[in-house]
Amino acid sequence: MTDKNVLRPQLWKPRTVEETISVYADWADTYDKEVTERGYKTPARLADVLAKFADKQSLVLDFGCGTGISGAALKTLGFEHLHGTDITAEMLDKATASGLYEKTWLSTAGDMDFEQGSYEVIVAVGVVSLGAAPPETLSALIDKLGIGGYLAFSYNGPTLEDGSYVKALDDEIASGRVECLFRKNGPHLEDVGMNSDIIVLRRK
Ligand SMILES: C[S@@+](CC[C@H](N)C(=O)[O-])C[C@H]1O[C@@H](n2cnc3c(N)ncnc32)[C@H](O)[C@@H]1O
Repeated sequence: MTDKNVLRPQLWKPRTVEETISVYADWADTYDKEVTERGYKTPARLADVLAKFADKQSLVLDFGCGTGISGAALKTLGFEHLHGTDITAEMLDKATASGLYEKTWLSTAGDMDFEQGSYEVIVAVGVVSLGAAPPETLSALIDKLGIGGYLAFSYNGPTLEDGSYVKALDDEIASGRVECLFRKNGPHLEDVGMNSDIIVLRRK
């Protein structure tokens, strides 16, 4: 993978949580323009899939909501009740200002700061990713679902190539506490031909 293929090369190598926050804090002002120009398709694809499974009146948590692009895609598909959280204040401020969310809050990498079963649906678009949160975040999100709750998320190309994220997903399915309802590969960043998997799990 070359630098041409990724938007912030610093995100694609080992780093601390503080470094992750610092990169996204610096990126907040230009994030929407940059990803839109490069053909960021995953939010719309995920919202489209979610609409086939979940009730549009569900209370949805947009985990790692960033500036609100993922929330905007969900709203376009008719999901009305959105909450959003992120660990980067500068990204979250944009999401809050967008008016898309009924509630937003700043979480930390160690504390998502909500109770299990609070949300019928959790989405994580581009968040459980080599360029954002570590693989163990997947299990932490599944821990927060009530029985029958949905987790809809994406794994982009580099994340799929990294064995640890795929293992986290395979282990969860093998454990029997979630079933995989949907998984399909498609465009993520169109201008560099990067794809992502959209995955929908349901807690058993
Ligand atoms: C690539 S952006 C995606 C933002 C938004 N979901 C979208 O589709 O545009 C990744 C986001 O994940 C956030 N993030 C990284 N690690 C996180 C963690 N452990 N918990 C919550 N958010 C995290 C970053 O601050 C950033 O806003």
